[in-house]
Amino acid sequence: MDVRKFSIPEILFGQGSLKYAALCARRLGADRVFLVSDKGLEEAGWVERFLDILREERLDWVYFNQVCSNPRDYQISEGVRCYREGGCDVVMAIGGGSPMDAAKGIAMVASNGGDVQDYEGANRIQRPLPPMVFIPSTAGSGADISQFAIITDVRRQVKMSIISRTLVPNISIIDPELLTTKSEELIISSAIDALSHAVESYVSIIASSLTDTQSLKAIDMIMKYLTIALQDRSMTALEKLASACSFAAMSFSNASLGLDHALAHSLGGKLDLAHGLIHPVLLPPVMRFNLPACTAKMADIGEIVLGRRRRSAKATALEGIARLEEFFAGLGISTRLGDIMDDPGVLPQICEMAAGDACLVTNPREATVEDMIDIMKASW
Ligand SMILES: [Fe+2]
Repeated sequence: MDVRKFSIPEILFGQGSLKYAALCARRLGADRVFLVSDKGLEEAGWVERFLDILREERLDWVYFNQVCSNPRDYQISEGVRCYREGGCDVVMAIGGGSPMDAAKGIAMVASNGGDVQDYEGANRIQRPLPPMVFIPSTAGSGADISQFAIITDVRRQVKMSIISRTLVPNISIIDPELLTTKSEELIISSAIDALSHAVESYVSIIASSLTDTQSLKAIDMIMKYLTIALQDRSMTALEKLASACSFAAMSFSNASLGLDHALAHSLGGKLDLAHGLIHPVLLPPVMRFNLPACTAKMADIGEIVLGRRRRSAKATALEGIARLEEFFAGLGISTRLGDIMDDPGVLPQICEMAAGDACLVTNPREATVEDMIDIMKASW
């Protein structure tokens, strides 16, 4: 049997867990916190509430909000400057994938030096990072759990995948109450991102029994609870979504991802598209492409999606993929590439860049640039 590692943070989960954020930071030696968030969280009132929690624990802080979606390399450099000038000791982030990825990038460069580009790829971080405590405000990216950080290189117009066990935060505080202020569109795009994490990690060539359980459970729960969460916004349904996202993150953090994410990073970097809106377009065709290399596992996914098996593994897998497409269309989101981008002339360049993405290494079927162009053209 192969030997596998499974790395996750300490996790506080449940409604109201946000109030323990300052205590967690204090426990990790904080005197002066470096807090990363963004305008959206400020407008929803979460940043002020968070600062109150820091005040009650008598913690000092430096607040950094110069982060946009698809965080940029120059924002990391600015964050590092603020972190160092502020004499901070613990990095905290409250927000979606963008503030959390930015916080990881800042912690990484502040402690290891150089530029964020120096760490692109897998296992290139040598020195330990400052302690990190993250509070996710969406059920999607899993950046509060994963060993991934995705940062855009502005000059090359590409989203860099940075993967290292040192990027796993020390503590993740998952309070589903934060989901109550999210728009329907954000809840959908985040959940579909988590669904792609679960699917891609389940068929990854380094998946193991430790990750398989998490990924299958995540697929099951997202299919069951996303629609309910959108309809009633109940804490029960939001908690289920938050759990599902965490399971998907535990899986992909340890089994990595695949072709859908390699293309999504390249496409998102080139065109600055919302990450979660790319998967409904690319995940089904990528699953069909991968099918010959992992038919039995695709059938497992099909069985969960359909609630039963068909006459053969291949039939179950194909019908499951078709059902996923119906599920996406039923959520009112675009499922054709032509709906989310204008110029098909950039597809070869996007696929060339995707060929260098670290997520491609664990895809179950080898994909050439020509294969990727075919997949994208077919989904136009
Ligand atoms: Fe993702």
